[in-house]
Amino acid sequence: MDYYSHPKDISALDAKLEAQKIAFSPIAFQAVMTLLRTDILKYICDAGEQGATAKELADKSEISTYGVKVLLDMAASMGIVWIENIDHYRLDKTGHFIINDKMTQANINFTQDVCYEGMFHLEQAIRTGTPSGLKVFGDWPTIYPALTSLPEKVKKSWFEFDHFYSDHSFPEVLPIIFEDKPKCILDVGGNTGKWTLACLHHNKDVRMAIMDLPQQLTVLQKNIADQGMLDRIEVHPTDLLAKDAPFYQGADVIWMSQFLDCFSEDQILEILKGAVKVMSQESSLFIMETYCDRQRFEAATYCINATSLYFTALANGNSRMYHSGDFIKLIQKAGLYVEKDIDDIGLGHTLFKCRKNMRLTD
Ligand SMILES: C[S@@+](CC[C@H](N)C(=O)[O-])C[C@H]1O[C@@H](n2cnc3c(N)ncnc32)[C@H](O)[C@@H]1O
Repeated sequence: MDYYSHPKDISALDAKLEAQKIAFSPIAFQAVMTLLRTDILKYICDAGEQGATAKELADKSEISTYGVKVLLDMAASMGIVWIENIDHYRLDKTGHFIINDKMTQANINFTQDVCYEGMFHLEQAIRTGTPSGLKVFGDWPTIYPALTSLPEKVKKSWFEFDHFYSDHSFPEVLPIIFEDKPKCILDVGGNTGKWTLACLHHNKDVRMAIMDLPQQLTVLQKNIADQGMLDRIEVHPTDLLAKDAPFYQGADVIWMSQFLDCFSEDQILEILKGAVKVMSQESSLFIMETYCDRQRFEAATYCINATSLYFTALANGNSRMYHSGDFIKLIQKAGLYVEKDIDDIGLGHTLFKCRKNMRLTD
């Protein structure tokens, strides 16, 4: 569903409030981070219907009463807590999701640890088409070769964010990918090997080939070795942005999950053309992505649009979470057609099963 092709139906007063939330959003966000990392929110959650006083919270968290109160006044303005009988802090609905919802936690940690400092350079990134915010972590052309060398906390939040979304979808799509009984699957952008492992466990005969940057493949090989299945995989360290980077030949299914959003439209087209070259009439290419115009829930569209700006400021300066229509045009231009188009997978993925358009490519 498209959530923003019509004006928002709210009063001027509410619109002004929304504008203030934006004006102070970094302050609000840091208040939430502090409430989480000092455990103040957890203590309020644990206190349940009784609530907790500022003094009790100050003692437990070893923060001054001043600190507790100033943070919780802001939290009350955000609907995270409410105050009963002058001094009893109780968890409110938004607070419930902040403290208990795994998606919110993955997003908060990603925003704080990976994005927060770098986002200060968004304007420069937009103007130059380069990930200007990445300099807060070092001198890298994109975030991908840096992934395994990022500070531990940053790395953890990046991988938890990435895995959170794909983990929810992998079990749902496995039966679809295996419908045509593939003997060999090529996992493009295989990362830490989660999909490869899911396939190896799902079908005892399938073989996997994986393409990714060398840094990621070292981690992947270790993870597969830990499960004793190295003999069923082959890795192909490849920079798919390199001119004429060869695609692994010999897979009947090519799999790209949360991969093509790492590239600009021109780069996606070149990568897809490279895949088409090694495809036959029988093979299929599956693309799993989140599209901003294919979401059932407004919260999902919001997350996706914010994630696009992470790509701009930190990942590579020129990619994003795409509109499905733009993506389908690239698929067709590369010489493919969409045979199956399935929405609402996991937490908002769409799966395209693509085939080679034999009339165009041979
Ligand atoms: C967002 S992760 C997706 C991981 C996994 N497929 C999933 O669904 O969770 C993107 C992956 O693409 C890889 N990648 C990015 N740029 C690449 C390039 N130029 N060549 C090869 N792989 C690349 C990254 O190293 C990373 O493992």
